[in-house]
Amino acid sequence: MANLAILGGDKLIKEEYLTLFPAWPPRDEETAEVLKKTYMEGNWSFNSPAEQEFEKAFAEYHGAKYGIFMANGTTTLECALTALGVTKGDEVIVPALTWMATALAASYVGATPVIVDIEPTTLCMDPEKMRAAITPKTKAIIPVHVYGSTADMEKILEIADAHGIPVIEDCAHMHGGFWNGRGVGSWGKVGSFSFQQSKTMSSGEGGICITNDPELAEKIYLLKHIGYSRGIKQGQAIRAPEGLLCHNYRATAFQAVILSQQLKGLNKLIDTYSKNAAFLRESIKDIPGVRMQAPGRLSEPQGYYSFHLIFDGEPFKDIPKSIINAACDAEGFGIGNGTHGPVYKASLFNLDLSKGEYRIPDGRCAVCEDLFDRTLGSAHYVLTHRATVEKLSAVLHKIYDNIDELKQYAASKA
Ligand SMILES: Cc1ncc(COP(=O)(O)O)c(C=O)c1O
Repeated sequence: MANLAILGGDKLIKEEYLTLFPAWPPRDEETAEVLKKTYMEGNWSFNSPAEQEFEKAFAEYHGAKYGIFMANGTTTLECALTALGVTKGDEVIVPALTWMATALAASYVGATPVIVDIEPTTLCMDPEKMRAAITPKTKAIIPVHVYGSTADMEKILEIADAHGIPVIEDCAHMHGGFWNGRGVGSWGKVGSFSFQQSKTMSSGEGGICITNDPELAEKIYLLKHIGYSRGIKQGQAIRAPEGLLCHNYRATAFQAVILSQQLKGLNKLIDTYSKNAAFLRESIKDIPGVRMQAPGRLSEPQGYYSFHLIFDGEPFKDIPKSIINAACDAEGFGIGNGTHGPVYKASLFNLDLSKGEYRIPDGRCAVCEDLFDRTLGSAHYVLTHRATVEKLSAVLHKIYDNIDELKQYAASKA
């Protein structure tokens, strides 16, 4: 008689999976009331008081003076690059593991994304590979604080500063994260965040740039606000700055109101995620062959957009991740497919390497490619309750305790 549920044994987790964590995005009556008030007031766009309030509070939370609220976390990257003067013929270094927006933002301003490999522990950009990818054409570097780790800002800034190259932090996954006591996004010249539906703070869509540089703040504001500078009233006669191609990348007051409400609980949320992720990491330490994505070296608290388990050692390393996940699922706790994989292999990424539309200095990003086959991951909100994390740990222990059954199952499917 088999023990593992995938082979007919008893299922370990009896509760319905979706009842183990809160629904996402979060909703509450208080926010619904504030939204109604904003709706009735009619001040829905164009630098509304709600937007200004949110920009200020979010920037301050992360240790920056200025916030520029926008339509999404792709426009933020694009405007940050333009504001820094990145243009046609330039190169922008990005990590292999990211959502494709990080690389495409470079293409949108006419530059070439240069894709470098990641660290096997944090899954963030490898600073040494980044150093090796720098050329005289490099005009910006965009490290990504990916999933549940913060890129090594000290090493990255040390190298970038030595070459005089500005750094834009892509913090789409890292709301509320701190590095060595200072908020993410305030280390580089600009920090860029996304508030798309799945993110740790979400208003359906939305994004923000934060910065401590008043000139960059003003330029980014002009870029997203079709050339209007701050304080200009709608209809007032003005002329956009010569040579600066501006956009309408504005977001609405409704988004700002939702986010201001969420910001009040961000500290507690990240603290809970951080503690529960640390607990999971510790509780599976006795299982060989599986490890969690390491948090950033100096991250405290570490933000979490998701958490990732890497099955790259004995006895798991030759069992396909789809089978490991199917076994977890059968026990009542499916983990999820995991990482995006290397950006240049993403199904929607259609830049052409042979035409020089992007560049991979090492030919391939081997660490990122190989780990993609070994990684499973779940969304941040699964980290909400300690009891849920304990259940996942119990599932992983059960699978390890019966690993021979799973190996035989995998062999029968090969
Ligand atoms: C790392 C990263 N950067 C940028 C973005 C782009 O954000 P948005 O979807 O708001 O445009 C995302 C979105 O998923 C992301 O994950």
